[in-house]
Amino acid sequence: MYITEIQINDFRNLERVRYVPARGVNILLGNNAQGKTNFLEAIYVLATGSSFRSALDKDLIRLGQDRFFIQAAYLYLNKKHTISLQYTQGKRKRLTIDNKKYALNQERLAAVLFTPDDLYLIKGPPQKRRAFLDNLLRNISPEHRTFLENYEQLLNRRNALLKGDLPDPGMLRALDHVFSLTAAQITLARLNLLKILDELTQRFYNRLGGNEDLQLKYALTFNLPGGKVNLDSIREIVVQAMQEKYIKEKQRKTTLIGPHRDDINFYLDQKNARIFASQGQQRNIAVALKLAEVEVFKKIRGAYPILLLDEILAELDIDRRTTMLDFLMNSSFQTFMTSVDGSLFNNINGKMVWLEQGRLSE
Ligand SMILES: Nc1ncnc2c1ncn2[C@@H]1O[C@H](COP(=O)(O)OP(=O)(O)OP(=O)(O)O)[C@@H](O)[C@H]1O
Ligand SMILES: [Mg+2]
Repeated sequence: MYITEIQINDFRNLERVRYVPARGVNILLGNNAQGKTNFLEAIYVLATGSSFRSALDKDLIRLGQDRFFIQAAYLYLNKKHTISLQYTQGKRKRLTIDNKKYALNQERLAAVLFTPDDLYLIKGPPQKRRAFLDNLLRNISPEHRTFLENYEQLLNRRNALLKGDLPDPGMLRALDHVFSLTAAQITLARLNLLKILDELTQRFYNRLGGNEDLQLKYALTFNLPGGKVNLDSIREIVVQAMQEKYIKEKQRKTTLIGPHRDDINFYLDQKNARIFASQGQQRNIAVALKLAEVEVFKKIRGAYPILLLDEILAELDIDRRTTMLDFLMNSSFQTFMTSVDGSLFNNINGKMVWLEQGRLSE
């Protein structure tokens, strides 16, 4: 999919911006604090409903105003759509797609974002990596969304029971019957997704100039035998692992087995990237992972999401920078990227625009 026109009103420091993007790469240039990230943020908020930067919607409204409005026209599988999002302080956000109110919609604008903070996908805490996988799973199918919602509820109930002085064994047994099933459903979904991500991320990492062998491995709270697994075999192992951990769980008063404690490990030439990889290598693994996300989305939904890249070229050496730009220019998805340095884009076949104090000029 790609955006054919976007309007942003009173969002952060962007008062009134109207932009007709190029089908391929769009480069947003400007000094620090002029509104480049705000522009990407507006697209991201339109696509996902909330910001990657602040939890409070009211922070997104331009200071002194009481509402923001973002609207875009886009093409998805050759059909034209419009999407708009309005937020007035103190009210609920209003999202429309093709002038109708929607909460969930398979034709909604979709975006994948890379920001410098995504380094923490590699070196940060495991929640970030689990959230990455689950977010992608939710996008892949409503079924996964339900699994994840069920699991969260069951886990909360189970932990509440374990926190009590004397967990009722009957209640716990009944709960564990469904808990083990949901845990197995999520584990299987994540394992399957990781298999695809492993292959794609490796390919993109090499394509972006990395020579090392990159591997993604899923780390579980129990031992899974090699070879083929299915829902039943995983569930059986979950049940067994839960029995083994039960005394410890009662002592610790929390659930120790299940996907809420799993992780992804990245290996560069068989060494754990979290500990051994350089900053540049970690960055490129994170970028490759995001590109893999773009590709998975395309496989499932038939069209590419929009790619938003904040300061992706900073910290890259000249070779990798050239490789990165070359890759983006030759890709089929629409990209919006920011940079403070226009000279990096000499001889580049993208559309360049400038942002200055929230105003855009071409
Ligand atoms: N709600 C708001 N109302 C008005 N201005 C805001 C609001 N929120 C943030 N700003 C301002 O927006 C400005 C630009 O922010 P932005 O993060 O887009 O800069 P940038 O161009 O990406 O800069 P950098 O190159 O440093 O990343 C900041 O100076 C900030 O004060
Ligand atoms: Mg910025």
